[in-house]
Parts: sequence; structure tokens; C-alpha cells
Amino acid sequence: MDATKALATTSLFGVLEPEELAVIAQRTVARRYRKGSILFVQGEEGERCFAIVSGTVKLSAYHADGREAVLAVLGPGDVFGELALFDEAPRSADATALEDAELLSLDRGALNEAIATHPEIASALLRVLGRRLRQSNEAFQDIAFFDVPGRVARRLADLADSYGVEVEEGVMIDIFLSQESLAQMVGATRESVNKALALLKRRGLVARTGKRYFVSDVGRLRSRALGPSA
Ligand code: CMP
Repeated sequence: MDATKALATTSLFGVLEPEELAVIAQRTVARRYRKGSILFVQGEEGERCFAIVSGTVKLSAYHADGREAVLAVLGPGDVFGELALFDEAPRSADATALEDAELLSLDRGALNEAIATHPEIASALLRVLGRRLRQSNEAFQDIAFFDVPGRVARRLADLADSYGVEVEEGVMIDIFLSQESLAQMVGATRESVNKALALLKRRGLVARTGKRYFVSDVGRLRSRALGPSA
């Protein structure tokens, strides 16, 4: 893997010039994880952040009774594991590879040095954190205001915006997403998400082939989040 090229595709480091990236790339460690591997768990100390080069990573928190809430499913170009480096508190979530994944990791010292030398990274980081806060607020509002089909519609529309690839049928969401993960992301049971997906499929808004979801019209899907007749 060419670490400089891989860093150029990330939300945090993509703002830098190739020569600057090459310096940071030297400090990264490339790691491969098999599908299902646990990268770290909530509550442990964190000394490294990660950039996703390929594959999909799930960030989730657990209730004492074992129930899981999926905070996010991240894909190529995303960065995670930075919170524990900044607030020096334990990991706020578990990270699990949902598909075979290639990651680049950077330790606290190297990240802080990179930020001190290139303040643009701090601005990019604020953008990433701001977007996450917005998404968390939206997820909170979804649970308060929307029915399950609405929540599923909105989440799929957001994922299509973030990870969508234009194809003949519309937009393919190019990350692996099981029904179980989708249910944990929208705070609903797998059965109710299954019904919601069936409804969205009947309306021609969503389709699934193999491991990927397709959205025919992201705008229409987003409108569905507001209610059945919207
Ligand atoms: P950290 O707390 O080090 O370890 C868990 C990581 O999950 C955290 O850093 C963030 O990078 C990531 N994370 C936590 N909450 C969210 C969220 N709501 N959306 C996206 N990523 C998150």
C-alpha cells in the first residue's frame, strides 16, 4: 500500500500537499484486519488513531445487558479513534471490521506533531467532528420524531450521500451493511427494520443486490423520512 496516496484520500489529511503527506506517511503503520476482527474496545486506553484505506469499520457501544448501539459505520477515507488521543479519556466505542479492512494508524505524538506543523489538519478535524455532532443530533431527532421506515430512509439517504457510487440503477451504497447493523444504527429491532426495508423496496426507493444497497432517488428517499405521504 502506498501510504502517501492512501492518506491523500482521507478527510483529515487530504488537505495537505503530497510532500507534506509523505512526511506524515513515514510515521504511519499499515495494518490489515480480517472481517469480524475487533480493533479496540470501549473503555480501553487509546494511543493511536486510524485512517480507513479500504473496507468498513463499525463503531458501537454496548448496554450492560449486551444490546448494541451502532454509532457509525465508516468506510474508505474516514478517520476514527482520535477522541481518546485528544481528551485522554478511554475509547468511547468498540471498533470492529465489518469487512476485510486495510488501515493506516498514527500514534498520538505523530498526530499532534502533524497538527502543530500543519494547522490545516486541525481545521479538517473540526469539520469531521462537527459533521459527527450533526449526525448524532440527527440520529437523536430521528428516534424522537420519525417512524422506523423514516429512520431507515434517512440513514440510507445519509449513507448514499457519504458512500454513494453512481450506477445505472441510481446510487450504490458502497459499504457493507447488514440488516442487524442498520437496526442498531436506527435504534430499532431487526424485524421492524426488515419490514421497513420491504416497504421501501415496494415503493421502489431501495433495492439490495448481494452485499450492497441501491437507492434509486436519494431525494425521494429523504422525503420519505418525513412521513408516509411526504
Ligand atoms: P475513540 O473514543 O478514541 O474510540 C472510538 C471512536 O469512535 C472515537 O474515538 C471516534 O473516532 C469514533 N466515534 C465515536 N462516536 C462516533 C459517532 N457518533 N460517529 C462517528 N464516529 C464516532
